[in-house]
Amino acid sequence: MVLYTKPPVVEVYEGNPLEPPCESIVVPVLQGPDGKPMVDVIRDLDPSGQLRGVSDLGFFKASVGDIFKGYVNGRLIVYTGIGRFDEEWSRLLENARRGLASGVKQVVEGSKCTLLVLSRLNRDVAVEALIGALLASYRLEAFTREKKRLLERVLVDRGDLDLNYVTAVVEGVYLARDIANAPPHELPPRRLAEVVRELFSKRDNVEVEVFDFDRLVREGFGGIVSVGMGSKEKPVMVVVRYKGSNGAPVALVGKTVVFDSGGINLKTGESIVYMRSDKAGGAAIIGALWAISKLNLGINVVGLIPAVINVPSGESYLPSDIIRMWDGTVVEVTNTDAEGRLIIGDAIAYAAKALGADEIVDLATLTGAIVVALGPLIAGLFTRDDRLREELLEASRRTGEKLWPMPMEDDYKQWLTRGAMVGDIANAGTRVGGAIYGALFLERFSHGKPYAHIDIAGPGMGYEAGGIAPSYWPDRSLAPGYGVRLLVEYLLAKASRLKAQPSS
Ligand code: BES
Ligand code: ZN
Ligand code: MN
Repeated sequence: MVLYTKPPVVEVYEGNPLEPPCESIVVPVLQGPDGKPMVDVIRDLDPSGQLRGVSDLGFFKASVGDIFKGYVNGRLIVYTGIGRFDEEWSRLLENARRGLASGVKQVVEGSKCTLLVLSRLNRDVAVEALIGALLASYRLEAFTREKKRLLERVLVDRGDLDLNYVTAVVEGVYLARDIANAPPHELPPRRLAEVVRELFSKRDNVEVEVFDFDRLVREGFGGIVSVGMGSKEKPVMVVVRYKGSNGAPVALVGKTVVFDSGGINLKTGESIVYMRSDKAGGAAIIGALWAISKLNLGINVVGLIPAVINVPSGESYLPSDIIRMWDGTVVEVTNTDAEGRLIIGDAIAYAAKALGADEIVDLATLTGAIVVALGPLIAGLFTRDDRLREELLEASRRTGEKLWPMPMEDDYKQWLTRGAMVGDIANAGTRVGGAIYGALFLERFSHGKPYAHIDIAGPGMGYEAGGIAPSYWPDRSLAPGYGVRLLVEYLLAKASRLKAQPSS
């Protein structure tokens, strides 16, 4: 497997925007106060009106996704609308990502070079526009015959954008997409661990440690061992340490079920093919760590990636099994399809008690119930910590990765204990409130540390998103790499806050 798919190369071009060494030019256009396109950019680029007279743009209103295109001097020029100039800030950033994504999709596949005219935009808007264009160029290439990405080389007509940031983030998302969409037999747990090792081998601020099956058994990771033992490809836990300071680390835990068949409680129905992406949580953590390792973030971060295959076999764990988790909690297995909470429960407890994390965030494609509640585009945020909630929601507004707060209802905790005939708690219970059940189950393993659980079963997988997904998501309902930008943004904000007031 070619890991990872490389994004297009980005370079600064400060020459004449009408004469770039490129076959195509994409121009974002804002909509003015009169509801019409702000035509000054167009006038600059097409002064003699060869494309069309600036007064005659047909139906082009510069709304998001609105396209007007033609050829000038043999070059394709695409005007792409990015919506109102006075739009609310987070909406404007999202409009820029979507507008540029739609714009570059007009460019011929395999285009060697494309100029993005970003010089008239606010700098932050321009950065997001560029990110949108690059994300839209992603193709799942690693396993397919055709190696046709959309763009090869992207030029931008200004030199003041933080291209290091853009590249780091976009590479992180590409990496997460490659991993989340990989077919299970290309990326069984041990292979995934090798890939992570290989990826970070040249980054000296990152250390990778792999807990193999024997060690997991020896050290009592009962959740990971039980879920993983049904497959001949045994489970592992990968621990990735990013060192940016001397403080306690932030722990990021990612559900990494390479394939979730449901196990003995076998899944039925067509949605099972999406379960290759039941590793989207882990994929996002790997992508985020990749990005921050290139950004010299000033805090410590540790990623925990428990990786398993959940399949039925003569060696599988069974409904009615009684599992002793890493922290000693005794869990009755009432459903082998509620496997995610067993593997990340172990990892969360390990982060809290063995790694000295000062806060823990997990990303997990945990429940179908959260998709019923929030649909395919929105992840559910479960936390009791007000600061974590506010900061994660702020990162969500900034990145457009949709997140919505969900309740941690104390009265529902009774479900966990009452559902178990033996042991402390049952891994699955009621049909109602399933996403909250999962969150309350996981919370027990955080041992009082500030903790947030993000259920990404919807946007993590791309499941049911066809037709309504943002234009910078991959085509054909592939996993979009949700969570990478959210986590990077969250961590960057946290690092700069700590820098400003080191004591808090
Ligand atoms: N990976 C699934 C969750 C999922 C389901 C994600 C559908 C996306 C679409 C998870 O492991 C699972 O199977 N959860 C069960 C839990 C239940 C048995 C308590 C579910 O949601 O049905
Ligand atoms: Zn699962
Ligand atoms: Mn499952």
